[in-house]
Amino acid sequence: MSNNKVQIFDTTLRDGEQVPGCKLNTQQKLVIAEQLDLLGVDIIEAGFPVSSPGDFTSVSEIAKIVKNATVCGLTRAVEKDIKVAAEALSYAKRPRIHTGIGTSESHIKYKFNSTQDKVIEKGVAAVKYAKSFVEDVEFFAEDAGRTDNEFLARVCEAMIKAGATVLNIPDTTGYCLPEEYGAKIKYLKENVKGIDNVIISCHCHNDLGLATANSIAGAINGARQIECTINGIGERAGNTSLEEVVMIMKQHPYLNLNTDIDSKLLYSTSQMVSDHMGMMVQPNKAIVGANAFAHSSGIHQDGVIKNRETYEIIDPEEVGVTESAIVLTARSGRAALAYRAKKVGYELSKLQLDDVYSEFLKFADRKKEVIDEDIHQIMKNTNVATVV
Ligand code: KIV
Ligand code: ZN
Repeated sequence: MSNNKVQIFDTTLRDGEQVPGCKLNTQQKLVIAEQLDLLGVDIIEAGFPVSSPGDFTSVSEIAKIVKNATVCGLTRAVEKDIKVAAEALSYAKRPRIHTGIGTSESHIKYKFNSTQDKVIEKGVAAVKYAKSFVEDVEFFAEDAGRTDNEFLARVCEAMIKAGATVLNIPDTTGYCLPEEYGAKIKYLKENVKGIDNVIISCHCHNDLGLATANSIAGAINGARQIECTINGIGERAGNTSLEEVVMIMKQHPYLNLNTDIDSKLLYSTSQMVSDHMGMMVQPNKAIVGANAFAHSSGIHQDGVIKNRETYEIIDPEEVGVTESAIVLTARSGRAALAYRAKKVGYELSKLQLDDVYSEFLKFADRKKEVIDEDIHQIMKNTNVATVV
């Protein structure tokens, strides 16, 4: 594996499915898992097998059908969880157990009423037990974002010794700033013995809208796995958005970070997950939102019609969107109207365009958006015949 490859760990079916009210059944999870495999994700976190019989079945069925990706199941640092996850993953070509425990002061004090040493002991035991079932064991230090770096380094070193292959450093509460999260990864890279033999993973939540920025900061500082979800779905404000981190790495080649994702499948995958989850994608969502490649103000439209690159940093086809949209509103200019009129069959002379534009503004002031049907009506009202 190239040293610049960042593995994409998709947790749409586990952390993503924790969105309140967005339940997926096994059949839906299978369809999404197949699409994720096609998209080129490296790891599919299929669920939390001990959490319910339904989740166990989903993980087990996904493990049977996934051809390329590693299939992963989540556990707490509890023997029963690990045993059940191993069973659910038994059909996987490449199984991974993802186990771990909270490491921040508040988790140790309030969740476990325990001590740092005991938490390390529990984590080590969990990793060793998971290792008795599968070779690939990922350890998560829950709330690592608010965990003291020195203690976190001790945790990581102990987990590497116990056999962990991947160390997940979650910003569980979405608290960190990018500089802080990046510095945390750098600190671990520089202070943990054996760290170069394992993969560091970023798992960031979006409570302050920084999940994507934090994940990229982590990768810049040496992490080589990013945990993310399609459309950034997940508990509260969600997780790192897969399409965002993938396109950031693609659009900034000087970062020298790459993935195996087929970006042309991003839009269709986003739509598929949105449909199955019954959760619409916010229109202004980066990369896959309905407005991500839509232009409605006259100045922007004029620029984009002359050359797409004036206002677009990504070719929409790169992410599977057929073309940029020129949306006609009262803020649109003549260039946009002429462009859209041509698309529905009218080639307008300069004189005709002046007449048609005044009529268009009357429509546009009445409506939020002027659509193709309105254009035909405008042409009728101004006696312009179809010429294209
Ligand atoms: O956010 C988190 O800390 C998690 C872990 C269970 C990996 O989702
Ligand atoms: Zn999470």
